[in-house]
Amino acid sequence: MLEAVSRTLHRIEGSYAFGILCSDYPGALIAARKDSPLILGYGEGFNFIASDVTAMIRYTREVCYMEDGEIAVLTADSISVFNSELVPVEKTRTTIDWDITAAEKCGHPHFMFKEILEQPEAVRRTISPRIKDNRVIMPELSALSPDYLKNITRIYIIACGSSFHVGMVSKYIWESLLRIPVEVVLASEFRYCDPLADKNTLVVVISQSGETLDTMAAMAEAKRRGAKTLSIVNVVGSSIARSADHVLYTWAGPEIAVATTKAYSTQLVLMDLLGLYLADLLGTVGCEQYDEILTAIQTLPEQMQTVLAQTNDIQYFASRWFNHNSIFFIGRNLDYAMGLEGSLKLKEISYIHSEAYASGELKHGTISLIEPGALVVALGTYAPLFDKAVSNILEVKARGAQVMALTTENRKEKMGKIADAVLTVPETHAILLPSLSVVPLQLFAYYVALQRGCDIDKPRNLAKSVTVE
Ligand code: AGP
Repeated sequence: MLEAVSRTLHRIEGSYAFGILCSDYPGALIAARKDSPLILGYGEGFNFIASDVTAMIRYTREVCYMEDGEIAVLTADSISVFNSELVPVEKTRTTIDWDITAAEKCGHPHFMFKEILEQPEAVRRTISPRIKDNRVIMPELSALSPDYLKNITRIYIIACGSSFHVGMVSKYIWESLLRIPVEVVLASEFRYCDPLADKNTLVVVISQSGETLDTMAAMAEAKRRGAKTLSIVNVVGSSIARSADHVLYTWAGPEIAVATTKAYSTQLVLMDLLGLYLADLLGTVGCEQYDEILTAIQTLPEQMQTVLAQTNDIQYFASRWFNHNSIFFIGRNLDYAMGLEGSLKLKEISYIHSEAYASGELKHGTISLIEPGALVVALGTYAPLFDKAVSNILEVKARGAQVMALTTENRKEKMGKIADAVLTVPETHAILLPSLSVVPLQLFAYYVALQRGCDIDKPRNLAKSVTVE
């Protein structure tokens, strides 16, 4: 049977992860993979295969990751792994230290809601081990010397979906801190665009699951061109984590809901820390600015908690607007990058058509979509551009739109005079505003989807790990 599988695999093209049963060989399961993830789980009196550790952490924490070309034979009591020539392979087991309750709803109606509430703690877990004596420490990156960094001429951030939106926020922050051009490219585009990556390029790859096929392929393309790769990943031992030159883990814990929330927030704060760390190595950040940002990062979990306290208001606004067919998000700079994520969250779980636009682009076409009654979510947290946000709100109001605005606490009154509803986030360093603003947008999407009776944790047509192209 093993030989038959092996010979067949030599003839199969494309990406796959198989679990193969044969009635002539009862009690045995043969597993093989190429490009798609496949994990073996060691139990007592039972063993598992799965594409993601979250599927089996309720039963076992002992896992190992299969490599392309390997074949595993599982029975209830044993797991044997062979290479493509059928020579036995010694696999290293990994113990997953995730808390089991993290993969349970624990009385919450949905995983997504629970995961939104877990964000302050997840952010705390991600930042605490990386701050010591008021300095950012990243021992995982000791090989990235200042000399290497000084020769970097370009940084690519590559990702998909929400992870791509983290990149969009980070671009604004990193370019200002590092003074190096940062390009954010969708992984599915990067691999086919003949990218300008070479040995002087740093490629940062962001992925919650660490198994997104497009992201993995884009990273392989970058490596082929001689670039150094650094991955930001949540799942320990996942394919992207294993194949990047360097890896930094987010400590969000298992994320079960398809719509990412706590993984997004931990990616964002880790990118802030990483930006600060690299800027310090390059000498492009002053002491005062460094201390200011680091102090603000440390108060983030507490501030996120205060934003979560606005749940009732957000629930009320959602009940007011859940029936809309189309919702627009507008903002500039960091607020624009934030709007992209707010809009994706809304559309993926509520099925409402939604788009995010850079406010300055309204007049170049989009404003023709604004008609009486349209709902516009206007993001105006970024102080230097607050007045511009106000004039964009007046523009859409003049065309009959209803506006739900998001701003900082000290601008609430001013915003209240022009918007139909105002949500606020506490004052913080500008670069951390997106980390706070995302929370009300996630809650808004959640409550809108709830009102519409959608399957919040498992929205139609979507998967948690996208392991196909
Ligand atoms: C976000 O809510 C989505 N589920 C999706 O856009 C996701 O961020 C994307 O598929 C990328 O996944 P990754 O972070 O696991 O690579």
